[in-house]
Amino acid sequence: MTKTRVLTGITTTGTPHLGNYVGAIKPAIAASQDPSVQSYYFLADLHALIKCQDPRRVQESRLEIAATWLALGLDTDNAIFYRQSDITEIPELTWMLSCVCAKGLMNRAHAYKASVAENEAVGNQDPDKGITMGLFGYPVLMAADILMFNAHKVPVGRDQIQHIEMARDMAGRFNHLYKGDYFTLPEAVVDEKVEVLGGLDGRKMSKSYNNTIPLFVSEKKLLKLVRKIKTNSLEPGEPKDPDGCTLFQIYAAFATPEETQAMRRQYEEGIGWGDAKNQLFDYLNAHLREPRERYLALMEDPGHIESVLAKGAERARAEAAALMDRLRPAVGLGRFV
Ligand code: TRP
Repeated sequence: MTKTRVLTGITTTGTPHLGNYVGAIKPAIAASQDPSVQSYYFLADLHALIKCQDPRRVQESRLEIAATWLALGLDTDNAIFYRQSDITEIPELTWMLSCVCAKGLMNRAHAYKASVAENEAVGNQDPDKGITMGLFGYPVLMAADILMFNAHKVPVGRDQIQHIEMARDMAGRFNHLYKGDYFTLPEAVVDEKVEVLGGLDGRKMSKSYNNTIPLFVSEKKLLKLVRKIKTNSLEPGEPKDPDGCTLFQIYAAFATPEETQAMRRQYEEGIGWGDAKNQLFDYLNAHLREPRERYLALMEDPGHIESVLAKGAERARAEAAALMDRLRPAVGLGRFV
């Protein structure tokens, strides 16, 4: 049986938060346990350089994100877990794809267009002011990530669908131009059921809004952050609407359906906000305690993380090298003898 290859990358800027866990990490770890799937999960650290030029931050974030996935139980004998920058074939493939990718296609990429629009909005003479080739070519690097492993399915957020379509476009052009079935055309998978968690201020939990609850903060900090979650001015005893309430939503994302139902009743019965916050904290803390301990131990043992990633890189590179051995002669860069 050939397995479905599922691949996704995590850009290594920032510290993982509850929203990342519920929206991406948890479903990805669950999917990797499906025996009909071979999953490829990687730290998109080359992509991180586009957004962040603080080397300490990039380095720290890679370690934190790797430790997080391992602490939460990713089975790396099963999933292939690696660092993008370890796969030196990826930048090589990026170049080959760059040479078949129309510049006009990249002009239409959302991230690039948004940057141009920002320049125009503030009246900059040069619409490309501050835009690097890294940002402009972002979708080509992402296409190389995906096409390198002939991924069938790519679970992503809505904002990334366009990038998968661009990867299909590049794959199709390459196959056509060089007359072969070199690349599988990937498909974006957007899970409608996966929740977008609210943050401290009620907007989507996101690093860019500065409203996140990091997964593995200390107990004390966790309590402090939970107490900061915005609520309304209803008094204890007044019935409250759980739907649209961030506290309730976070609770429901972690709790069982029965526990969620019981909390819903407490809202109807007029639970006070202080009480609801304490209950959410207790619940989160009880569930995060063990992974937090594993996380802290992993952070103290970067050598172990390094060896796990080395094993992942070895598995990934075996495939990458085999593909490049086909691609080089296909474009005229084969050996002479
Ligand atoms: N661009 C993705 C994001 O910001 C991360 C990413 C990089 C990715 N390469 C990928 C996702 C390949 C899926 C497949 O979320």
